[in-house]
Amino acid sequence: MAFKVGVPVEFPDFIDRKVALKKFLHFLQDGQNVMIHAPRRYGKTSLIAEGYRQYDGNTIYFDLKRYADLGAIGRELIGRVYEVVGIKGFWDNIKDGITNFLKSLRATVNIKLFEIIEISIERIEKLEQYENKDEIFLYALEIAEKLATNSHKKINIAFDEFQDIKIALSRDKFILDKIRAVVQHHKSVMYIFCGSHQILMNEIFLGKDSPFFHFCRIIELGPLDISELFDFVKNKFIKIKVKLDDQELMNYLEQLDCHPYYSMKVMQVLYYMVIDDNIKYIEDKHYQLAITQAIYETKSYLDDMVTQIKSRAHHFEMLSSIANEKKIDNLDIVTSYKIKQNLVYLGYLKHQGKADYTFADTFLKYYLKQNSFKYQPGLN
Ligand SMILES: Nc1ncnc2c1ncn2[C@@H]1O[C@H](COP(=O)(O)OP(=O)(O)OP(=O)(O)O)[C@@H](O)[C@H]1O
Ligand SMILES: [Mg+2]
Repeated sequence: MAFKVGVPVEFPDFIDRKVALKKFLHFLQDGQNVMIHAPRRYGKTSLIAEGYRQYDGNTIYFDLKRYADLGAIGRELIGRVYEVVGIKGFWDNIKDGITNFLKSLRATVNIKLFEIIEISIERIEKLEQYENKDEIFLYALEIAEKLATNSHKKINIAFDEFQDIKIALSRDKFILDKIRAVVQHHKSVMYIFCGSHQILMNEIFLGKDSPFFHFCRIIELGPLDISELFDFVKNKFIKIKVKLDDQELMNYLEQLDCHPYYSMKVMQVLYYMVIDDNIKYIEDKHYQLAITQAIYETKSYLDDMVTQIKSRAHHFEMLSSIANEKKIDNLDIVTSYKIKQNLVYLGYLKHQGKADYTFADTFLKYYLKQNSFKYQPGLN
Protein backbone atom coordinates (compact mmCIF):
# COMPACT_ATOMS: atom_id res chain seq x y z
CA MET A 1 0.00 0.00 0.00
CA ALA A 2 1.22 3.47 -0.90
CA PHE A 3 1.52 6.38 1.50
CA LYS A 4 -1.78 7.69 2.78
CA VAL A 5 -2.05 11.42 2.32
CA GLY A 6 -4.83 13.93 2.69
CA VAL A 7 -7.04 11.97 5.04
CA PRO A 8 -6.55 11.43 8.76
CA VAL A 9 -4.53 8.28 9.38
CA GLU A 10 -4.61 5.59 12.02
CA PHE A 11 -2.95 2.20 12.46
CA PRO A 12 -1.24 0.84 10.32
CA ASP A 13 -0.57 4.17 8.56
CA PHE A 14 -0.03 6.11 11.77
CA ILE A 15 3.65 6.78 12.54
CA ASP A 16 5.34 7.70 15.77
CA ARG A 17 3.71 10.18 18.15
CA LYS A 18 4.68 7.94 21.06
CA VAL A 19 4.87 10.77 23.57
CA ALA A 20 1.79 12.66 22.39
CA LEU A 21 -0.26 9.49 22.08
CA LYS A 22 0.67 8.35 25.56
CA LYS A 23 -0.25 11.73 26.95
CA PHE A 24 -3.50 11.78 25.02
CA LEU A 25 -4.53 8.31 26.26
CA HIS A 26 -3.58 9.28 29.78
CA PHE A 27 -5.79 12.38 29.60
CA LEU A 28 -8.65 10.33 28.16
CA GLN A 29 -8.42 7.83 31.00
CA ASP A 30 -8.11 10.62 33.54
CA GLY A 31 -11.16 12.43 32.22
CA GLN A 32 -9.38 15.65 31.26
CA ASN A 33 -10.55 18.16 28.70
CA VAL A 34 -7.91 18.42 26.01
CA MET A 35 -6.98 20.83 23.25
CA ILE A 36 -4.59 19.62 20.55
CA HIS A 37 -2.37 22.44 19.45
CA ALA A 38 -0.28 22.26 16.27
CA PRO A 39 0.27 23.99 12.96
CA ARG A 40 -1.86 23.00 10.01
CA ARG A 41 -1.54 19.43 8.74
CA TYR A 42 0.57 18.22 11.61
CA GLY A 43 -1.72 15.32 12.38
CA LYS A 44 -4.19 16.63 14.97
CA THR A 45 -7.15 14.74 13.56
CA SER A 46 -5.00 11.64 13.09
CA LEU A 47 -3.99 11.77 16.75
CA ILE A 48 -7.64 11.78 17.78
CA ALA A 49 -8.43 8.93 15.36
CA GLU A 50 -5.58 6.74 16.59
CA GLY A 51 -6.11 7.72 20.24
CA TYR A 52 -9.79 6.86 20.05
CA ARG A 53 -8.95 3.58 18.31
CA GLN A 54 -6.68 2.59 21.19
CA TYR A 55 -8.87 3.95 23.98
CA ASP A 56 -11.19 1.49 25.58
CA GLY A 57 -14.05 3.86 26.36
CA ASN A 58 -17.05 5.67 24.90
CA THR A 59 -16.04 8.16 22.25
CA ILE A 60 -17.96 10.42 19.93
CA TYR A 61 -16.25 12.40 17.16
CA PHE A 62 -17.58 15.45 15.32
CA ASP A 63 -16.00 17.22 12.39
CA LEU A 64 -17.87 20.51 12.71
CA LYS A 65 -17.19 21.39 9.06
CA ARG A 66 -19.76 18.81 8.05
CA TYR A 67 -22.70 20.56 9.67
CA ALA A 68 -24.76 23.54 8.60
CA ASP A 69 -25.65 24.76 12.07
CA LEU A 70 -25.39 23.92 15.74
CA GLY A 71 -28.88 22.42 15.75
CA ALA A 72 -27.76 19.63 13.42
CA ILE A 73 -24.79 18.85 15.66
CA GLY A 74 -27.01 18.94 18.74
CA ARG A 75 -29.49 16.50 17.20
CA GLU A 76 -26.76 14.10 16.20
CA LEU A 77 -25.09 14.40 19.58
CA ILE A 78 -28.33 13.51 21.34
CA GLY A 79 -28.78 10.42 19.14
CA ARG A 80 -25.18 9.32 19.71
CA VAL A 81 -25.30 9.80 23.47
CA TYR A 82 -28.53 7.83 23.68
CA GLU A 83 -26.76 5.08 21.78
CA VAL A 84 -23.89 5.08 24.28
CA VAL A 85 -26.33 4.62 27.16
CA GLY A 86 -27.92 1.71 25.31
CA ILE A 87 -30.89 3.26 23.51
CA LYS A 88 -30.51 2.82 19.78
CA GLY A 89 -32.32 4.74 17.02
CA PHE A 90 -33.53 7.58 19.26
CA TRP A 91 -34.70 9.86 16.45
CA ASP A 92 -36.31 7.07 14.44
CA ASN A 93 -38.21 5.94 17.51
CA ILE A 94 -39.39 9.47 18.18
CA LYS A 95 -40.60 9.76 14.60
CA ASP A 96 -42.47 6.47 14.90
CA GLY A 97 -44.39 7.67 17.96
CA ILE A 98 -43.30 9.02 21.30
CA THR A 99 -45.94 7.24 23.36
CA ASN A 100 -44.95 3.79 22.17
CA PHE A 101 -41.26 4.59 22.51
CA LEU A 102 -41.71 5.70 26.12
CA LYS A 103 -43.80 2.64 26.86
CA SER A 104 -41.07 0.33 25.63
CA LEU A 105 -38.43 2.23 27.58
CA ARG A 106 -40.37 2.14 30.83
CA ALA A 107 -39.94 -1.59 30.85
CA THR A 108 -36.21 -1.56 30.17
CA VAL A 109 -34.51 1.40 31.89
CA ASN A 110 -34.36 2.47 35.54
CA ILE A 111 -36.79 5.08 36.86
CA LYS A 112 -34.28 7.90 37.15
CA LEU A 113 -33.08 7.42 33.61
CA PHE A 114 -36.64 7.14 32.39
CA GLU A 115 -37.50 10.48 33.96
CA ILE A 116 -34.55 12.13 32.28
CA ILE A 117 -35.54 10.69 28.93
CA GLU A 118 -39.14 11.81 29.32
CA ILE A 119 -38.13 15.36 30.20
CA SER A 120 -35.52 15.50 27.50
CA ILE A 121 -38.00 14.49 24.80
CA GLU A 122 -40.40 17.20 25.88
CA ARG A 123 -37.67 19.81 25.93
CA ILE A 124 -36.23 18.78 22.58
CA GLU A 125 -39.68 18.92 20.98
CA LYS A 126 -40.13 22.47 22.23
CA LEU A 127 -36.70 23.59 21.08
CA GLU A 128 -37.30 22.07 17.66
CA GLN A 129 -40.66 23.84 17.37
CA TYR A 130 -39.02 27.19 17.96
CA GLU A 131 -36.11 26.22 15.74
CA ASN A 132 -33.72 27.45 18.36
CA LYS A 133 -30.60 25.88 16.89
CA ASP A 134 -27.94 27.06 19.34
CA GLU A 135 -30.18 26.07 22.23
CA ILE A 136 -30.60 22.55 20.83
CA PHE A 137 -26.80 22.20 20.87
CA LEU A 138 -26.46 23.60 24.40
CA TYR A 139 -29.21 21.33 25.57
CA ALA A 140 -27.57 18.35 23.85
CA LEU A 141 -24.44 19.01 25.92
CA GLU A 142 -26.50 19.16 29.07
CA ILE A 143 -28.44 16.01 28.34
CA ALA A 144 -25.22 14.19 27.45
CA GLU A 145 -23.88 14.83 30.95
CA LYS A 146 -27.17 13.83 32.59
CA LEU A 147 -27.53 10.61 30.63
CA ALA A 148 -23.89 9.67 31.17
CA THR A 149 -23.98 10.35 34.90
CA ASN A 150 -27.20 8.45 35.45
CA SER A 151 -26.04 5.43 33.55
CA HIS A 152 -22.61 5.53 35.22
CA LYS A 153 -20.77 5.98 31.98
CA LYS A 154 -17.95 8.26 30.91
CA ILE A 155 -18.18 9.75 27.46
CA ASN A 156 -15.50 11.54 25.52
CA ILE A 157 -16.62 13.93 22.81
CA ALA A 158 -14.22 15.36 20.23
CA PHE A 159 -15.03 18.58 18.42
CA ASP A 160 -12.71 18.89 15.45
CA GLU A 161 -12.64 22.15 13.46
CA PHE A 162 -13.96 23.76 16.62
CA GLN A 163 -13.21 27.29 15.36
CA ASP A 164 -16.21 26.90 13.04
CA ILE A 165 -18.53 27.44 16.01
CA LYS A 166 -17.34 31.01 16.02
CA ILE A 167 -17.14 31.69 12.31
CA ALA A 168 -19.82 29.61 10.66
CA LEU A 169 -22.17 27.74 12.92
CA SER A 170 -23.60 30.39 15.21
CA ARG A 171 -24.46 34.07 14.97
CA ASP A 172 -24.45 34.59 18.70
CA LYS A 173 -21.26 36.37 19.67
CA PHE A 174 -21.52 34.92 23.17
CA ILE A 175 -21.86 31.32 22.00
CA LEU A 176 -18.45 30.30 23.35
CA ASP A 177 -19.28 31.78 26.76
CA LYS A 178 -22.52 29.84 26.73
CA ILE A 179 -20.84 26.56 25.80
CA ARG A 180 -18.19 27.06 28.45
CA ALA A 181 -20.88 27.82 31.06
CA VAL A 182 -22.52 24.46 30.29
CA VAL A 183 -19.49 22.21 29.94
CA GLN A 184 -17.43 23.52 32.83
CA HIS A 185 -19.51 21.57 35.35
CA HIS A 186 -19.39 18.31 33.47
CA LYS A 187 -17.91 15.33 35.26
CA SER A 188 -19.02 12.39 33.13
CA VAL A 189 -18.51 13.95 29.71
CA MET A 190 -15.10 15.21 28.68
CA TYR A 191 -14.13 17.12 25.59
CA ILE A 192 -11.39 17.15 23.01
CA PHE A 193 -10.96 20.24 20.88
CA CYS A 194 -8.87 20.88 17.83
CA GLY A 195 -9.08 22.85 14.63
CA SER A 196 -7.21 23.66 11.47
CA HIS A 197 -7.49 27.43 11.83
CA GLN A 198 -4.60 28.03 14.13
CA ILE A 199 -5.16 31.74 14.66
CA LEU A 200 -8.74 31.27 15.79
CA MET A 201 -7.88 28.22 17.87
CA ASN A 202 -5.18 30.24 19.59
CA GLU A 203 -7.65 33.03 20.27
CA ILE A 204 -10.19 30.63 21.72
CA PHE A 205 -7.85 28.56 23.90
CA LEU A 206 -4.82 30.73 24.57
CA GLY A 207 -6.36 34.21 24.55
CA LYS A 208 -6.60 35.48 28.10
CA ASP A 209 -10.03 37.00 27.51
CA SER A 210 -11.49 33.89 25.97
CA PRO A 211 -13.98 31.80 27.96
CA PHE A 212 -11.89 28.72 27.09
CA PHE A 213 -8.63 30.11 28.45
CA HIS A 214 -7.24 27.56 30.92
CA PHE A 215 -10.13 25.18 30.32
CA CYS A 216 -8.11 22.33 28.81
CA ARG A 217 -4.89 20.43 29.08
CA ILE A 218 -2.93 21.25 25.95
CA ILE A 219 -1.12 18.71 23.81
CA GLU A 220 1.47 20.26 21.52
CA LEU A 221 2.28 18.32 18.36
CA GLY A 222 5.68 18.76 16.80
CA PRO A 223 7.20 17.16 13.70
CA LEU A 224 7.44 13.38 13.40
CA ASP A 225 10.36 11.55 14.94
CA ILE A 226 13.02 11.19 12.25
CA SER A 227 14.08 7.63 12.96
CA GLU A 228 10.51 6.34 13.03
CA LEU A 229 9.67 8.25 9.90
CA PHE A 230 12.80 6.86 8.27
CA ASP A 231 11.91 3.24 9.18
CA PHE A 232 8.37 3.67 7.96
CA VAL A 233 9.45 5.12 4.60
CA LYS A 234 12.27 2.66 4.06
CA ASN A 235 10.00 -0.31 4.74
CA LYS A 236 7.50 0.88 2.18
CA PHE A 237 10.22 0.90 -0.48
CA ILE A 238 11.73 -2.40 0.65
CA LYS A 239 8.30 -3.98 0.18
CA ILE A 240 8.31 -3.02 -3.50
CA LYS A 241 11.98 -4.03 -3.85
CA VAL A 242 13.32 -0.54 -4.41
CA LYS A 243 16.73 0.39 -3.01
CA LEU A 244 17.89 3.71 -1.64
CA ASP A 245 20.80 5.25 0.20
CA ASP A 246 19.99 5.51 3.92
CA GLN A 247 21.89 8.72 4.51
CA GLU A 248 20.33 10.39 1.50
CA LEU A 249 16.81 9.53 2.65
CA MET A 250 17.67 10.76 6.14
CA ASN A 251 18.92 14.07 4.67
CA TYR A 252 15.77 14.59 2.68
CA LEU A 253 13.51 13.83 5.63
CA GLU A 254 15.51 16.36 7.59
CA GLN A 255 15.13 18.88 4.78
CA LEU A 256 11.39 18.28 4.92
CA ASP A 257 11.59 19.04 8.67
CA CYS A 258 9.83 15.69 9.26
CA HIS A 259 6.66 17.64 8.59
CA PRO A 260 3.92 15.00 8.83
CA TYR A 261 1.90 15.99 5.81
CA TYR A 262 4.67 17.18 3.49
CA SER A 263 6.97 14.25 4.23
CA MET A 264 4.15 11.86 3.43
CA LYS A 265 3.18 13.84 0.35
CA VAL A 266 6.70 13.82 -1.09
CA MET A 267 7.12 10.13 -0.33
CA GLN A 268 3.81 9.37 -1.97
CA VAL A 269 4.85 11.20 -5.16
CA LEU A 270 8.19 9.38 -5.06
CA TYR A 271 6.47 6.04 -4.56
CA TYR A 272 4.28 6.44 -7.64
CA MET A 273 7.21 7.79 -9.66
CA VAL A 274 9.25 4.73 -8.78
CA ILE A 275 6.45 2.39 -9.80
CA ASP A 276 5.48 4.24 -12.98
CA ASP A 277 9.07 4.62 -14.23
CA ASN A 278 10.21 1.23 -12.99
CA ILE A 279 13.00 2.79 -10.91
CA LYS A 280 15.04 0.27 -8.92
CA TYR A 281 17.34 2.64 -7.06
CA ILE A 282 16.23 6.04 -5.79
CA GLU A 283 18.73 8.75 -6.65
CA ASP A 284 19.09 12.36 -5.65
CA LYS A 285 17.31 13.62 -8.78
CA HIS A 286 14.24 11.53 -7.93
CA TYR A 287 13.91 13.16 -4.50
CA GLN A 288 14.31 16.59 -6.10
CA LEU A 289 11.65 15.86 -8.64
CA ALA A 290 9.28 14.46 -6.04
CA ILE A 291 9.64 17.60 -3.91
CA THR A 292 9.04 19.88 -6.87
CA GLN A 293 6.01 17.92 -7.96
CA ALA A 294 4.61 17.82 -4.42
CA ILE A 295 5.01 21.60 -4.07
CA TYR A 296 3.31 22.06 -7.41
CA GLU A 297 0.38 19.96 -6.27
CA THR A 298 0.16 22.11 -3.11
CA LYS A 299 0.47 25.40 -5.00
CA SER A 300 -3.06 26.75 -4.59
CA TYR A 301 -2.92 26.11 -0.84
CA LEU A 302 0.43 27.93 -0.65
CA ASP A 303 -0.88 30.80 -2.76
CA ASP A 304 -3.81 31.24 -0.37
CA MET A 305 -1.37 31.40 2.50
CA VAL A 306 0.75 34.01 0.72
CA THR A 307 -2.34 36.16 0.04
CA GLN A 308 -3.22 36.08 3.73
CA ILE A 309 0.32 36.95 4.78
CA LYS A 310 0.46 39.85 2.31
CA SER A 311 -2.59 41.41 3.93
CA ARG A 312 -0.44 42.30 6.97
CA ALA A 313 2.20 44.98 6.68
CA HIS A 314 5.80 43.72 6.26
CA HIS A 315 4.86 40.13 7.14
CA PHE A 316 5.58 38.79 3.69
CA GLU A 317 8.86 40.69 3.50
CA MET A 318 9.90 39.21 6.83
CA LEU A 319 9.06 35.62 5.86
CA SER A 320 10.76 36.04 2.54
CA SER A 321 13.91 37.40 4.20
CA ILE A 322 14.02 34.45 6.61
CA ALA A 323 13.51 31.94 3.78
CA ASN A 324 16.33 33.54 1.81
CA GLU A 325 18.55 34.23 4.82
CA LYS A 326 18.72 37.90 3.93
CA LYS A 327 18.43 40.93 6.18
CA ILE A 328 15.65 43.50 5.82
CA ASP A 329 17.14 46.98 5.75
CA ASN A 330 14.12 49.18 6.20
CA LEU A 331 12.81 47.78 9.51
CA ASP A 332 14.08 48.69 12.96
CA ILE A 333 14.83 45.99 15.53
CA VAL A 334 11.68 46.50 17.59
CA THR A 335 9.36 46.34 14.58
CA SER A 336 11.19 43.28 13.23
CA TYR A 337 10.85 41.55 16.57
CA LYS A 338 7.14 42.36 16.78
CA ILE A 339 6.50 41.05 13.28
CA LYS A 340 8.37 37.82 14.00
CA GLN A 341 6.44 37.33 17.21
CA ASN A 342 3.21 37.91 15.35
CA LEU A 343 4.24 35.41 12.69
CA VAL A 344 4.79 32.90 15.48
CA TYR A 345 1.36 33.70 16.91
CA LEU A 346 -0.22 33.32 13.48
CA GLY A 347 1.40 29.92 13.13
CA TYR A 348 3.79 30.67 10.25
CA LEU A 349 7.01 30.63 12.25
CA LYS A 350 8.33 28.64 15.17
CA HIS A 351 10.59 30.26 17.73
CA GLN A 352 13.51 27.91 18.36
CA GLY A 353 15.43 30.06 20.79
CA LYS A 354 16.83 33.57 21.07
CA ALA A 355 16.93 34.94 17.51
CA ASP A 356 16.28 31.63 15.81
CA TYR A 357 13.02 31.45 13.88
CA THR A 358 12.08 28.63 11.53
CA PHE A 359 9.14 27.96 9.27
CA ALA A 360 6.25 25.88 10.58
CA ASP A 361 5.31 25.18 6.97
CA THR A 362 8.20 23.55 5.13
CA PHE A 363 6.75 24.01 1.67
CA LEU A 364 6.07 27.68 2.29
CA LYS A 365 9.77 28.05 3.05
CA TYR A 366 10.70 26.36 -0.24
CA TYR A 367 8.09 28.34 -2.08
CA LEU A 368 9.45 31.66 -0.82
CA LYS A 369 13.05 30.72 -1.42
CA GLN A 370 14.03 32.47 -4.61
CA ASN A 371 14.85 30.14 -7.47
CA SER A 372 14.34 27.05 -5.36
CA PHE A 373 11.04 26.18 -6.91
CA LYS A 374 10.76 25.73 -10.63
CA TYR A 375 8.20 23.31 -11.84
CA GLN A 376 9.24 21.63 -15.02
CA PRO A 377 6.27 19.77 -16.41
CA GLY A 378 7.07 16.58 -18.20
CA LEU A 379 10.17 15.81 -16.19
CA ASN A 380 8.44 13.21 -14.07
N1 LIG B 1 1.18 10.24 12.78
C1 LIG B 1 1.14 10.28 11.44
N2 LIG B 1 1.62 9.25 10.71
C2 LIG B 1 1.62 9.27 9.36
N3 LIG B 1 1.14 10.30 8.64
C3 LIG B 1 0.64 11.36 9.30
C4 LIG B 1 0.61 11.41 10.73
N4 LIG B 1 0.08 12.57 11.10
C5 LIG B 1 -0.23 13.22 9.96
N5 LIG B 1 0.11 12.50 8.88
C6 LIG B 1 -0.03 12.93 7.46
O1 LIG B 1 -0.50 14.26 7.45
C7 LIG B 1 -1.80 14.34 6.83
C8 LIG B 1 -2.63 15.31 7.62
O2 LIG B 1 -3.01 14.74 8.86
P1 LIG B 1 -4.26 15.28 9.68
O3 LIG B 1 -5.42 15.51 8.79
O4 LIG B 1 -4.44 14.39 10.84
O5 LIG B 1 -3.67 16.68 10.16
P2 LIG B 1 -4.41 17.90 10.87
O6 LIG B 1 -3.42 18.53 11.77
O7 LIG B 1 -5.70 17.46 11.45
O8 LIG B 1 -4.67 18.84 9.60
P3 LIG B 1 -5.58 20.17 9.56
O9 LIG B 1 -4.78 21.24 10.21
O10 LIG B 1 -5.79 20.40 8.10
O11 LIG B 1 -6.85 19.85 10.29
C9 LIG B 1 -2.32 12.91 6.79
O12 LIG B 1 -3.12 12.72 5.66
C10 LIG B 1 -1.04 12.09 6.70
O13 LIG B 1 -0.60 12.00 5.38
MG1 LIG C 1 -7.66 18.14 11.11
